[in-house]
Amino acid sequence: MRIVDIIEKKRDGGELNREEIKELILGYVQEQVPDYQVAAFLMAVVFRGMTDRETAILTDVMMHSGDTVDLSPLPGIKVDKHSTGGVGDTTTLIVAPLVAACGGTVAKMSGRGLGHTGGTLDKLESIPGVNIEQPLDRFMDIVRKNGLAVIGQSGNLVPADKKLYALRDVTATIGSTPLIASSVMSKKLAAGADAIVLDVKVGSGAFMRTVEDAKRLASLMVRIGAHLGRRCEAIITDMNQPLGLAVGNALEVQEAVNVLSGLVPEDEPLVEVSLLLGAHMLMLSNIVSTEEEGKEKLLQALRSGAGLMKLRRMIEAMGGDPAYIDANRIKELCQVRKQVKVYPLQDGYLSGLVAEKIGIASQMLGAGRAKKEDRIDPAVGLIMHKRVGDPVSVQEPFCTLYVNDESHLEEAIELLHESMTISTDKPEPAPLVYAIVKE
Ligand code: URA
Ligand code: CA
Repeated sequence: MRIVDIIEKKRDGGELNREEIKELILGYVQEQVPDYQVAAFLMAVVFRGMTDRETAILTDVMMHSGDTVDLSPLPGIKVDKHSTGGVGDTTTLIVAPLVAACGGTVAKMSGRGLGHTGGTLDKLESIPGVNIEQPLDRFMDIVRKNGLAVIGQSGNLVPADKKLYALRDVTATIGSTPLIASSVMSKKLAAGADAIVLDVKVGSGAFMRTVEDAKRLASLMVRIGAHLGRRCEAIITDMNQPLGLAVGNALEVQEAVNVLSGLVPEDEPLVEVSLLLGAHMLMLSNIVSTEEEGKEKLLQALRSGAGLMKLRRMIEAMGGDPAYIDANRIKELCQVRKQVKVYPLQDGYLSGLVAEKIGIASQMLGAGRAKKEDRIDPAVGLIMHKRVGDPVSVQEPFCTLYVNDESHLEEAIELLHESMTISTDKPEPAPLVYAIVKE
Protein backbone atom coordinates (compact mmCIF):
# COMPACT_ATOMS: atom_id res chain seq x y z
CA MET A 1 0.00 0.00 0.00
CA ARG A 2 1.51 3.32 -1.04
CA ILE A 3 1.01 6.30 1.28
CA VAL A 4 0.46 8.56 -1.71
CA ASP A 5 -2.57 6.47 -2.72
CA ILE A 6 -4.08 6.88 0.75
CA ILE A 7 -3.62 10.66 0.56
CA GLU A 8 -5.13 10.70 -2.91
CA LYS A 9 -8.17 8.69 -1.79
CA LYS A 10 -8.85 11.19 1.00
CA ARG A 11 -8.14 14.14 -1.30
CA ASP A 12 -10.86 12.86 -3.63
CA GLY A 13 -13.37 12.42 -0.79
CA GLY A 14 -13.07 8.66 -0.34
CA GLU A 15 -13.60 6.79 2.94
CA LEU A 16 -10.44 5.19 4.35
CA ASN A 17 -10.50 1.73 5.90
CA ARG A 18 -8.72 0.53 9.03
CA GLU A 19 -5.70 -0.83 7.14
CA GLU A 20 -5.14 2.46 5.39
CA ILE A 21 -5.48 4.54 8.55
CA LYS A 22 -3.14 2.19 10.45
CA GLU A 23 -0.55 2.29 7.69
CA LEU A 24 -0.50 6.08 7.76
CA ILE A 25 -0.74 6.78 11.52
CA LEU A 26 1.41 3.95 12.87
CA GLY A 27 3.91 4.55 10.05
CA TYR A 28 4.11 8.16 11.16
CA VAL A 29 4.65 7.25 14.83
CA GLN A 30 7.41 4.82 13.78
CA GLU A 31 8.97 7.54 11.62
CA GLN A 32 8.51 5.59 8.42
CA VAL A 33 6.07 8.11 6.97
CA PRO A 34 7.46 11.66 6.66
CA ASP A 35 5.87 14.84 8.01
CA TYR A 36 5.09 16.18 4.53
CA GLN A 37 2.88 13.25 3.62
CA VAL A 38 1.00 13.41 6.91
CA ALA A 39 0.63 17.19 6.49
CA ALA A 40 -0.95 16.64 3.07
CA PHE A 41 -3.27 14.02 4.54
CA LEU A 42 -4.32 16.34 7.40
CA MET A 43 -5.12 19.15 4.97
CA ALA A 44 -7.20 16.73 2.88
CA VAL A 45 -9.14 15.84 6.06
CA VAL A 46 -9.71 19.55 6.79
CA PHE A 47 -11.34 19.94 3.36
CA ARG A 48 -13.03 16.56 2.94
CA GLY A 49 -13.90 15.64 6.52
CA MET A 50 -14.25 12.07 7.74
CA THR A 51 -17.22 9.79 8.21
CA ASP A 52 -18.15 8.74 11.76
CA ARG A 53 -16.78 5.29 11.07
CA GLU A 54 -13.46 6.69 9.84
CA THR A 55 -13.19 9.02 12.84
CA ALA A 56 -13.86 6.14 15.25
CA ILE A 57 -11.19 4.03 13.53
CA LEU A 58 -8.71 6.94 13.60
CA THR A 59 -9.40 7.40 17.33
CA ASP A 60 -8.97 3.69 18.00
CA VAL A 61 -5.69 3.52 16.03
CA MET A 62 -4.35 6.64 17.80
CA MET A 63 -5.41 5.32 21.22
CA HIS A 64 -3.47 2.09 20.62
CA SER A 65 -0.35 3.84 19.27
CA GLY A 66 1.19 3.68 22.77
CA ASP A 67 0.36 2.50 26.28
CA THR A 68 -3.19 2.41 27.61
CA VAL A 69 -4.18 2.48 31.27
CA ASP A 70 -6.13 -0.41 32.75
CA LEU A 71 -8.26 0.88 35.63
CA SER A 72 -10.18 -2.39 35.98
CA PRO A 73 -8.42 -3.37 39.26
CA LEU A 74 -10.32 -0.44 40.85
CA PRO A 75 -13.87 -1.29 41.90
CA GLY A 76 -16.93 0.32 40.36
CA ILE A 77 -17.40 2.76 37.52
CA LYS A 78 -14.42 5.04 36.95
CA VAL A 79 -15.59 8.43 35.76
CA ASP A 80 -13.62 11.23 34.11
CA LYS A 81 -14.35 14.72 32.86
CA HIS A 82 -12.71 16.71 30.13
CA SER A 83 -12.95 20.31 29.08
CA THR A 84 -12.01 21.29 25.54
CA GLY A 85 -10.14 24.22 27.06
CA GLY A 86 -11.24 27.45 28.62
CA VAL A 87 -10.15 30.56 30.49
CA GLY A 88 -10.70 30.74 34.24
CA ASP A 89 -12.09 27.21 34.10
CA THR A 90 -11.12 25.51 37.31
CA THR A 91 -14.06 23.09 37.35
CA THR A 92 -11.87 19.97 37.69
CA LEU A 93 -10.58 21.07 41.10
CA ILE A 94 -14.17 21.58 42.25
CA VAL A 95 -16.03 18.74 40.54
CA ALA A 96 -13.57 15.90 41.06
CA PRO A 97 -13.50 16.26 44.89
CA LEU A 98 -17.28 16.76 45.07
CA VAL A 99 -17.98 13.67 42.94
CA ALA A 100 -15.56 11.64 45.07
CA ALA A 101 -17.29 12.92 48.22
CA CYS A 102 -20.59 11.61 46.77
CA GLY A 103 -19.15 8.12 46.28
CA GLY A 104 -17.85 8.46 42.73
CA THR A 105 -14.46 7.17 41.59
CA VAL A 106 -12.43 9.79 39.74
CA ALA A 107 -9.13 8.57 38.27
CA LYS A 108 -8.09 11.42 36.06
CA MET A 109 -5.09 12.13 33.89
CA SER A 110 -4.88 15.78 33.10
CA GLY A 111 -2.92 18.07 30.81
CA ARG A 112 -0.96 21.29 30.95
CA GLY A 113 -2.17 24.64 29.69
CA LEU A 114 -2.32 25.06 25.92
CA GLY A 115 -1.94 28.60 24.56
CA HIS A 116 -4.31 30.98 26.33
CA THR A 117 -6.11 28.23 28.27
CA GLY A 118 -5.03 26.98 31.69
CA GLY A 119 -4.22 23.39 32.60
CA THR A 120 -5.08 21.55 35.80
CA LEU A 121 -1.52 20.22 36.23
CA ASP A 122 -0.05 23.71 36.28
CA LYS A 123 -2.64 24.75 38.85
CA LEU A 124 -1.92 21.73 41.08
CA GLU A 125 1.81 22.43 40.90
CA SER A 126 1.26 25.88 42.41
CA ILE A 127 0.78 24.07 45.74
CA PRO A 128 4.20 23.48 47.35
CA GLY A 129 5.32 19.86 47.25
CA VAL A 130 2.72 18.50 44.83
CA ASN A 131 4.17 15.93 42.46
CA ILE A 132 1.89 15.35 39.47
CA GLU A 133 4.09 12.54 38.16
CA GLN A 134 2.90 9.56 40.17
CA PRO A 135 3.68 5.96 39.20
CA LEU A 136 0.59 4.10 38.02
CA ASP A 137 0.36 1.79 41.06
CA ARG A 138 0.61 4.78 43.40
CA PHE A 139 -2.08 6.61 41.36
CA MET A 140 -4.40 3.60 41.69
CA ASP A 141 -3.65 3.39 45.39
CA ILE A 142 -4.60 7.04 45.96
CA VAL A 143 -7.84 6.51 44.04
CA ARG A 144 -8.61 3.35 45.99
CA LYS A 145 -8.19 5.12 49.33
CA ASN A 146 -9.57 8.56 48.49
CA GLY A 147 -11.90 8.01 45.52
CA LEU A 148 -9.91 10.61 43.67
CA ALA A 149 -6.59 11.41 42.03
CA VAL A 150 -5.64 13.83 39.28
CA ILE A 151 -2.16 13.27 37.83
CA GLY A 152 -0.16 14.03 34.68
CA GLN A 153 -0.48 11.88 31.60
CA SER A 154 2.24 9.22 31.72
CA GLY A 155 5.12 9.07 29.24
CA ASN A 156 3.85 6.96 26.40
CA LEU A 157 0.11 7.59 26.27
CA VAL A 158 -1.06 8.28 22.70
CA PRO A 159 2.27 9.20 21.04
CA ALA A 160 0.33 9.56 17.77
CA ASP A 161 -1.47 12.59 19.19
CA LYS A 162 1.73 14.25 20.39
CA LYS A 163 3.18 14.08 16.87
CA LEU A 164 -0.05 14.88 15.05
CA TYR A 165 -0.91 17.82 17.30
CA ALA A 166 2.54 19.38 16.85
CA LEU A 167 2.22 18.99 13.08
CA ARG A 168 -1.35 20.33 13.01
CA ASP A 169 -0.24 23.33 15.04
CA VAL A 170 2.18 24.44 12.28
CA THR A 171 0.13 23.44 9.22
CA ALA A 172 -3.14 25.27 10.01
CA THR A 173 -4.96 21.95 10.49
CA ILE A 174 -6.06 22.23 14.12
CA GLY A 175 -9.55 23.38 13.21
CA SER A 176 -11.14 20.16 11.94
CA THR A 177 -13.95 18.46 13.85
CA PRO A 178 -12.82 14.84 13.22
CA LEU A 179 -9.20 15.75 14.02
CA ILE A 180 -10.13 17.48 17.30
CA ALA A 181 -12.55 14.69 18.25
CA SER A 182 -9.99 11.92 17.62
CA SER A 183 -7.27 13.88 19.45
CA VAL A 184 -9.39 14.42 22.57
CA MET A 185 -11.07 11.01 22.62
CA SER A 186 -7.92 8.94 21.94
CA LYS A 187 -6.35 10.46 25.09
CA LYS A 188 -9.48 10.10 27.22
CA LEU A 189 -10.06 6.50 26.16
CA ALA A 190 -6.38 5.56 26.65
CA ALA A 191 -6.58 6.91 30.21
CA GLY A 192 -9.03 4.12 30.98
CA ALA A 193 -12.22 5.66 32.41
CA ASP A 194 -15.52 3.79 31.91
CA ALA A 195 -17.54 6.98 31.70
CA ILE A 196 -16.62 10.46 30.50
CA VAL A 197 -18.40 13.81 30.74
CA LEU A 198 -17.14 16.31 28.18
CA ASP A 199 -17.44 20.06 28.60
CA VAL A 200 -17.35 21.48 25.09
CA LYS A 201 -16.71 25.21 25.23
CA VAL A 202 -18.11 27.61 22.70
CA GLY A 203 -17.18 31.25 22.15
CA SER A 204 -14.28 33.63 21.74
CA GLY A 205 -12.05 31.72 24.16
CA ALA A 206 -12.72 28.28 22.63
CA PHE A 207 -11.80 26.15 19.59
CA MET A 208 -15.46 26.12 18.58
CA ARG A 209 -16.80 29.58 17.86
CA THR A 210 -20.47 28.72 17.15
CA VAL A 211 -23.00 26.61 19.06
CA GLU A 212 -23.68 24.55 15.92
CA ASP A 213 -19.99 23.65 15.57
CA ALA A 214 -19.74 22.82 19.28
CA LYS A 215 -22.81 20.56 19.04
CA ARG A 216 -21.34 18.75 16.05
CA LEU A 217 -18.04 18.17 17.89
CA ALA A 218 -19.81 17.10 21.09
CA SER A 219 -22.09 14.68 19.30
CA LEU A 220 -19.19 13.16 17.37
CA MET A 221 -17.14 12.63 20.56
CA VAL A 222 -20.09 11.07 22.39
CA ARG A 223 -20.69 8.67 19.49
CA ILE A 224 -17.00 7.73 19.26
CA GLY A 225 -17.02 6.96 22.99
CA ALA A 226 -20.10 4.77 22.63
CA HIS A 227 -18.65 3.02 19.57
CA LEU A 228 -15.57 2.13 21.63
CA GLY A 229 -17.60 0.92 24.61
CA ARG A 230 -17.62 3.88 27.01
CA ARG A 231 -20.50 5.91 28.40
CA CYS A 232 -20.14 9.51 27.31
CA GLU A 233 -22.14 12.71 27.59
CA ALA A 234 -21.30 16.29 26.73
CA ILE A 235 -22.43 19.66 27.94
CA ILE A 236 -21.97 22.72 25.79
CA THR A 237 -21.07 25.80 27.80
CA ASP A 238 -20.24 29.42 27.17
CA MET A 239 -16.64 30.60 26.84
CA ASN A 240 -17.16 34.18 25.74
CA GLN A 241 -15.95 35.29 29.15
CA PRO A 242 -13.84 33.55 31.80
CA LEU A 243 -15.94 31.00 33.67
CA GLY A 244 -14.72 31.97 37.13
CA LEU A 245 -13.36 35.29 38.29
CA ALA A 246 -9.78 34.09 38.72
CA VAL A 247 -7.41 33.51 35.80
CA GLY A 248 -4.02 32.09 36.78
CA ASN A 249 -2.71 29.12 38.71
CA ALA A 250 -2.63 29.64 42.49
CA LEU A 251 -5.40 32.21 41.94
CA GLU A 252 -7.62 29.53 40.36
CA VAL A 253 -6.77 27.02 43.08
CA GLN A 254 -7.79 29.72 45.56
CA GLU A 255 -11.11 30.17 43.75
CA ALA A 256 -11.70 26.39 43.84
CA VAL A 257 -10.88 26.29 47.57
CA ASN A 258 -13.23 29.24 48.12
CA VAL A 259 -16.02 27.42 46.27
CA LEU A 260 -15.44 24.22 48.28
CA SER A 261 -15.40 26.33 51.47
CA GLY A 262 -18.85 27.71 50.66
CA LEU A 263 -17.53 31.26 50.16
CA VAL A 264 -18.73 31.64 46.56
CA PRO A 265 -22.47 32.07 45.84
CA GLU A 266 -23.97 28.84 44.50
CA ASP A 267 -25.43 30.61 41.46
CA GLU A 268 -22.02 31.83 40.21
CA PRO A 269 -21.31 30.43 36.70
CA LEU A 270 -18.25 28.48 37.89
CA VAL A 271 -20.32 26.74 40.56
CA GLU A 272 -23.27 26.17 38.23
CA VAL A 273 -21.16 24.51 35.52
CA SER A 274 -19.32 22.45 38.16
CA LEU A 275 -22.60 21.16 39.60
CA LEU A 276 -23.95 20.33 36.16
CA LEU A 277 -20.80 18.43 35.15
CA GLY A 278 -20.74 16.66 38.51
CA ALA A 279 -24.42 15.69 38.31
CA HIS A 280 -23.82 14.02 34.95
CA MET A 281 -20.72 12.26 36.30
CA LEU A 282 -22.83 10.88 39.17
CA MET A 283 -25.57 9.81 36.73
CA LEU A 284 -23.07 7.94 34.52
CA SER A 285 -21.69 6.35 37.72
CA ASN A 286 -25.20 5.04 38.56
CA ILE A 287 -25.09 6.93 41.87
CA VAL A 288 -28.07 9.17 41.10
CA SER A 289 -30.79 8.91 38.49
CA THR A 290 -31.56 12.55 37.73
CA GLU A 291 -29.65 15.78 37.24
CA GLU A 292 -31.58 17.40 40.10
CA GLU A 293 -30.74 14.61 42.51
CA GLY A 294 -27.10 14.83 41.46
CA LYS A 295 -26.89 18.58 42.02
CA GLU A 296 -28.55 18.25 45.43
CA LYS A 297 -26.10 15.55 46.50
CA LEU A 298 -23.12 17.61 45.30
CA LEU A 299 -24.40 20.69 47.13
CA GLN A 300 -24.59 18.67 50.34
CA ALA A 301 -20.96 17.62 49.86
CA LEU A 302 -20.06 21.24 49.25
CA ARG A 303 -21.93 22.63 52.26
CA SER A 304 -20.66 19.95 54.65
CA GLY A 305 -17.02 20.52 53.64
CA ALA A 306 -16.71 16.90 52.48
CA GLY A 307 -15.53 18.05 49.02
CA LEU A 308 -12.83 20.30 50.50
CA MET A 309 -11.64 17.39 52.64
CA LYS A 310 -11.31 15.19 49.53
CA LEU A 311 -9.18 17.82 47.80
CA ARG A 312 -7.01 18.21 50.90
CA ARG A 313 -6.43 14.45 51.12
CA MET A 314 -5.56 14.22 47.45
CA ILE A 315 -3.02 17.06 47.72
CA GLU A 316 -1.46 15.38 50.73
CA ALA A 317 -1.30 11.99 48.98
CA MET A 318 0.50 13.65 46.07
CA GLY A 319 3.18 15.09 48.36
CA GLY A 320 1.69 18.57 48.70
CA ASP A 321 1.21 20.60 51.87
CA PRO A 322 -2.52 20.20 52.67
CA ALA A 323 -2.46 23.23 55.00
CA TYR A 324 -2.79 25.43 51.91
CA ILE A 325 -6.15 23.88 51.05
CA ASP A 326 -7.77 26.38 53.35
CA ALA A 327 -9.40 29.69 52.42
CA ASN A 328 -7.17 31.61 54.84
CA ARG A 329 -3.88 29.96 53.92
CA ILE A 330 -4.15 29.70 50.14
CA LYS A 331 -3.76 33.51 49.91
CA GLU A 332 -0.09 33.05 50.77
CA LEU A 333 0.47 31.37 47.42
CA CYS A 334 -0.96 34.41 45.60
CA GLN A 335 1.57 36.91 47.02
CA VAL A 336 3.06 39.06 44.27
CA ARG A 337 5.31 42.14 44.08
CA LYS A 338 2.54 44.34 42.80
CA GLN A 339 -1.23 44.42 42.23
CA VAL A 340 -2.36 46.62 39.36
CA LYS A 341 -5.97 47.66 38.89
CA VAL A 342 -7.31 48.03 35.35
CA TYR A 343 -10.16 50.49 34.74
CA PRO A 344 -12.62 50.64 31.83
CA LEU A 345 -12.04 53.54 29.42
CA GLN A 346 -15.68 54.67 29.51
CA ASP A 347 -18.89 54.36 31.54
CA GLY A 348 -21.77 52.11 30.46
CA TYR A 349 -22.57 48.42 30.49
CA LEU A 350 -20.07 45.67 29.86
CA SER A 351 -21.76 44.16 26.81
CA GLY A 352 -19.04 41.76 25.69
CA LEU A 353 -15.70 40.23 26.61
CA VAL A 354 -13.16 38.29 24.57
CA ALA A 355 -12.06 35.44 26.81
CA GLU A 356 -9.12 34.63 24.53
CA LYS A 357 -7.59 38.10 25.06
CA ILE A 358 -8.03 37.81 28.83
CA GLY A 359 -6.30 34.43 28.74
CA ILE A 360 -3.43 35.84 26.69
CA ALA A 361 -3.09 38.82 29.07
CA SER A 362 -2.74 36.41 31.99
CA GLN A 363 -0.24 34.35 29.98
CA MET A 364 1.80 37.53 29.33
CA LEU A 365 2.08 38.13 33.06
CA GLY A 366 3.66 34.66 33.34
CA ALA A 367 0.64 32.49 34.22
CA GLY A 368 0.86 30.50 30.96
CA ARG A 369 3.42 29.40 28.43
CA ALA A 370 3.99 31.00 25.02
CA LYS A 371 6.45 28.17 24.26
CA LYS A 372 6.46 24.66 25.68
CA GLU A 373 9.71 25.34 27.57
CA ASP A 374 8.51 28.54 29.32
CA ARG A 375 8.34 28.51 33.11
CA ILE A 376 5.10 29.43 34.82
CA ASP A 377 4.94 31.85 37.76
CA PRO A 378 2.27 30.21 39.95
CA ALA A 379 1.29 33.41 41.82
CA VAL A 380 0.51 35.71 38.89
CA GLY A 381 -2.63 36.22 36.81
CA LEU A 382 -5.72 38.30 37.31
CA ILE A 383 -9.02 38.56 39.16
CA MET A 384 -12.03 39.85 37.25
CA HIS A 385 -14.42 42.20 39.03
CA LYS A 386 -17.02 42.53 36.29
CA ARG A 387 -19.03 40.09 34.20
CA VAL A 388 -20.88 40.66 30.94
CA GLY A 389 -24.07 42.60 31.69
CA ASP A 390 -22.64 44.52 34.67
CA PRO A 391 -22.65 48.32 34.75
CA VAL A 392 -19.08 49.69 34.59
CA SER A 393 -17.50 53.06 35.24
CA VAL A 394 -14.07 54.59 34.77
CA GLN A 395 -13.85 54.91 38.57
CA GLU A 396 -14.25 51.21 39.28
CA PRO A 397 -11.62 48.59 38.45
CA PHE A 398 -12.63 46.00 35.88
CA CYS A 399 -9.94 43.57 37.05
CA THR A 400 -6.86 43.37 39.28
CA LEU A 401 -3.59 42.07 37.89
CA TYR A 402 -1.23 40.03 40.06
CA VAL A 403 2.23 40.95 38.80
CA ASN A 404 5.82 39.90 39.47
CA ASP A 405 7.49 40.47 36.10
CA GLU A 406 6.46 43.80 34.53
CA SER A 407 8.08 43.29 31.13
CA HIS A 408 4.75 42.67 29.33
CA LEU A 409 2.49 44.58 31.72
CA GLU A 410 1.61 47.43 29.34
CA GLU A 411 0.76 44.97 26.55
CA ALA A 412 -1.40 42.93 28.93
CA ILE A 413 -3.35 46.03 30.01
CA GLU A 414 -3.86 47.00 26.37
CA LEU A 415 -5.24 43.54 25.59
CA LEU A 416 -7.63 43.75 28.53
CA HIS A 417 -8.94 47.07 27.24
CA GLU A 418 -9.38 45.47 23.82
CA SER A 419 -11.24 42.55 25.39
CA MET A 420 -14.05 44.83 26.64
CA THR A 421 -17.04 46.08 24.68
CA ILE A 422 -18.95 48.78 26.51
CA SER A 423 -22.44 49.89 25.47
CA THR A 424 -24.92 52.45 26.71
CA ASP A 425 -27.80 49.94 26.84
CA LYS A 426 -27.95 46.95 29.14
CA PRO A 427 -27.25 43.84 27.02
CA GLU A 428 -29.47 40.76 26.93
CA PRO A 429 -28.09 38.05 29.24
CA ALA A 430 -26.33 35.26 27.31
CA PRO A 431 -26.89 31.58 28.16
CA LEU A 432 -24.28 29.74 30.23
CA VAL A 433 -25.30 26.24 29.13
CA TYR A 434 -26.44 25.74 25.53
CA ALA A 435 -27.17 22.04 25.35
CA ILE A 436 -26.62 18.61 26.80
CA VAL A 437 -25.61 15.99 24.25
CA LYS A 438 -26.26 12.32 24.87
CA GLU A 439 -25.94 9.41 22.55
N1 URA B 1 -7.60 19.63 22.53
C1 URA B 1 -6.98 18.49 22.15
O1 URA B 1 -6.54 17.71 22.99
N2 URA B 1 -6.85 18.24 20.84
C2 URA B 1 -7.30 19.06 19.88
O2 URA B 1 -7.14 18.76 18.72
C3 URA B 1 -7.93 20.25 20.28
C4 URA B 1 -8.09 20.50 21.62
CA1 CA C 1 -16.96 32.63 39.99
